[in-house]
Amino acid sequence: MSTIAFYDTKPYDRQYFEAAPAASRLKLQFHEFRLSSETVATVGAARAVCVFVNDRLDAACLAQIQQAGVRLVALRCAGFNNVDLVAARKLGLAVIRVPAYSPHAVAEHTFALLLALNRKIHRAYNRVREHNFSLSGLVGFDLFGKTVGIIGTGKIGKIVAQIFQGFGTQVLAYDPFPAPEWAAARGVEYVDLPTLLGRSHIVSLHLPLTPESRYLLNAENFARMKPGAYLLNTSRGKLVDTAALIDALKNGQVGGVALDVYEEEEGIFFEDHSDEILLDDELSRLLTFPNVLITAHQAFLTEEALREIARVTTTNLANFLDAQPFLDQTALVNLPTP
Ligand code: NAI
Repeated sequence: MSTIAFYDTKPYDRQYFEAAPAASRLKLQFHEFRLSSETVATVGAARAVCVFVNDRLDAACLAQIQQAGVRLVALRCAGFNNVDLVAARKLGLAVIRVPAYSPHAVAEHTFALLLALNRKIHRAYNRVREHNFSLSGLVGFDLFGKTVGIIGTGKIGKIVAQIFQGFGTQVLAYDPFPAPEWAAARGVEYVDLPTLLGRSHIVSLHLPLTPESRYLLNAENFARMKPGAYLLNTSRGKLVDTAALIDALKNGQVGGVALDVYEEEEGIFFEDHSDEILLDDELSRLLTFPNVLITAHQAFLTEEALREIARVTTTNLANFLDAQPFLDQTALVNLPTP
């Protein structure tokens, strides 16, 4: 039975992966630390590694795992920006991901953040626990009648757009690969990016991080936004230039921000640092704003999503090692050279 080395694992990863039907076809070896050039020796005799969003698989790390006998990198997430795909291809390493596990989990968390931020639930919760029943400073706004801009109308963006319509908002969208039939059926209007930024009261990011989309929300684009607009980012931290965001919050150009991702989250998110001094000055500054709400990359964290991630990943791992096809060919993000 082939060994799979898992990195950056938490108790819930073990729980769902060990319970997955195809786990019986594999030997699962769980590590709590991340995979990188520094930890690569722990790969041992594994034929495949299973990694998450903050394991850094650069060219050096990939060369070392290939040398150790690894043939497959399985990401237990949808995004794959943390893997050097060009290097993987040169080394003959296949890279797979879970293309869709529960787009609903991420879409619904986007609304958990928006509603909490807008209606100040995080502040009200703390006040009431302290027997402070005053309402000063808790004024929000109706979503009904507002215009929202969805950037990226893939699996998650479409669901977010549809939920927004339930609130009675007008939905604008921007995507270089639009879905015109879906938009026509749903009454969603595709516009260019400056138009979307200029007309939206709320902008929500649902696009992948690529070299082209890095810092999509920079000083120039913040200046194009409606003054006081809200920004929601449950996609990837580096889509937003944090320094420019802080400036836009300070001058009121951005009226509120909900983030589930942060550009320097690696090494901070997923861990308990409550006994330590937070050394990241930009994250510290963001946490001082009353109109900023941050969760630590938990949008995917539902029972359904964890079960599906484990089912798809273990089946694809076992199939690959038994020379059988993947469950869904879109799992493969990098075809190795034959
Ligand atoms: P998807 O691949 O179904 O859709 C992405 C859409 O973005 C596509 O329609 C694509 O054409 C569009 N796009 C690409 N470049 C763009 C650009 N420069 N401007 C505007 N649109 C662009 O992906 P899906 O499943 O909807 O996921 C979206 C993102 O959500 C992922 O890339 C990932 O970064 C993030 N995510 C975050 C999670 C979390 O826990 N916070 C969990 C899962 C995904």
